[in-house]
Amino acid sequence: MLGKVLTCAIIGLDGALVEVEVDISQGLPAFTIVGLPDTAVQEAKERVRTAIKNCGCVFPLRRITVNLAPADLRKEGPAYDLPIAVGILLASEQLVTSAGECLFLGELSLDGSVRHTSGILPMVAVARDAGLTTVFVPAADALEASLIAEVTVIPVDHLAQLVAHLRDERRIEPYIAPPDALAAIEPLAYPVNLADVRGQEHVKRALEVAASGGHNMLMSGPPGSGKTLIARASPSILPPMASTEALEVTQIYSVSGLLGNNGQGPLMRQRPFRAPHHTTSHAGLVGGGRWPRPGEISLAHRGVLFLDELPEFGQNVLEVLRQPLEDKMVTISRAQGSVTFPANFMLIAAMNPCPCGFYSDPARECVCSPATISRYQKRLSGPLLDRIDIHVEVPRVDYEKLAGQGEPERSEVVRARVIAARSRQIARFAGTPLTCNADMGPSEVRTYCALEPAAQSLLKAAAQQLQLSARAYHRTLKLARTIADLAAVEVIGPAHLAEAIQYRPRIQT
Ligand SMILES: Nc1ncnc2c1ncn2[C@@H]1O[C@H](COP(=O)(O)OP(=O)(O)O)[C@@H](O)[C@H]1O
Ligand SMILES: [Mg+2]
Repeated sequence: MLGKVLTCAIIGLDGALVEVEVDISQGLPAFTIVGLPDTAVQEAKERVRTAIKNCGCVFPLRRITVNLAPADLRKEGPAYDLPIAVGILLASEQLVTSAGECLFLGELSLDGSVRHTSGILPMVAVARDAGLTTVFVPAADALEASLIAEVTVIPVDHLAQLVAHLRDERRIEPYIAPPDALAAIEPLAYPVNLADVRGQEHVKRALEVAASGGHNMLMSGPPGSGKTLIARASPSILPPMASTEALEVTQIYSVSGLLGNNGQGPLMRQRPFRAPHHTTSHAGLVGGGRWPRPGEISLAHRGVLFLDELPEFGQNVLEVLRQPLEDKMVTISRAQGSVTFPANFMLIAAMNPCPCGFYSDPARECVCSPATISRYQKRLSGPLLDRIDIHVEVPRVDYEKLAGQGEPERSEVVRARVIAARSRQIARFAGTPLTCNADMGPSEVRTYCALEPAAQSLLKAAAQQLQLSARAYHRTLKLARTIADLAAVEVIGPAHLAEAIQYRPRIQT
């Protein structure tokens, strides 16, 4: 007797349909899984055997062969437990049902309960694309699955419950998401408000510009001047995500198994903020592993990647950032094939100007030798710095400002301006995949960055004096575009351009 059940594999961020075929034939008791299973799939045998026993069914003591088709696609992870169990019950005629129109996903525990499984969202999307009507998912993941509206989601708590459902003894009601569960924006709670930062008005302005256009930013200054604090305030002024962006981000978190334990529920509604430590490896930052997983740059997709103490990151680690900073995605190739992860993030970096931190500080003397300072700053390569649009110095805050009574502007006020500037950009790029000025390519720069005559002559002078590279030239124009958007002006004026130019790097390498 042959049992056939559909399930799903994850390659990179996408799912692929997998057919689980179970054959039970005469012979000595044996249980084999073929079709390129990894260790976790091999171990499904033990979980499935015990779970079937513990749900009141019989595990057939005959020769069981499980084939996961297509055979050349590598299968990994424990999500095949539930479909294998159902396949065995079908093949041993303990279940008679046509499960052809359904997708089964889930990890089993020994007592038969169905556990949370990563990657539910992209797998349910595969079901929809394949025209399947019903998916059986772990009850814990039902809300995530219900983000795909076209498919009926059946939440399964326990294998016994699923058996009763498939035998028509006790139906499981389809899952209906509570109406407020996916409401656009909940009252957002951010750990740091811009009002917590005293002084540093020019840095806050730079952050506002960066957030408005999605530009990269590097802060440099002595320790304790508030660099980390300002970076941590950045999520509070970012515009909300469109629903398509939220789904993209949710898919990445779903595959990484990070959904649900980040305080955001099943749908990522807040832009992510990732702050990897400087000991992070290559693979941890850009993604990798034998079966490539998204790295920090992809987890920061549509949000902020904050690299504190930038020169402390290994040079190799920083240089791999260059390509994704330009292409806004990263492709990881392995012998088995290559996968592409999106990585459209806004980079915020912070550094001290020298190892002791007080170079250029008016109050405290720097104890580093010129050679040490130069070696420290050379850890950041020219090509990397060239990709950062906004360079700002963060000087120490003086006592008067720190102890002053006045209340600095709150994030909510700044955020309203950022949202206004973004909505001009969204209107401009309507019908294209672009979402903000930083996404513009050279042809869009030509179309949308019209300059007033006075600004044109300023740009000419600056390009000659600062020896702007072609990239720096385009980046300056995009930045000026954002500054003009903040001022709600369509043609870029000299003041907007001048502000953009003064954000160019001053660290010479
Ligand atoms: N501009 C500022 N306004 C208010 N508090 C500040 C400011 N700068 C620093 N601080 C205080 O000093 C602490 C350390 O600041 P931090 O941002 O970590 O400095 P840095 O990263 O520049 O070394 C902050 O947690 C905050 O308590
Ligand atoms: Mg710091």
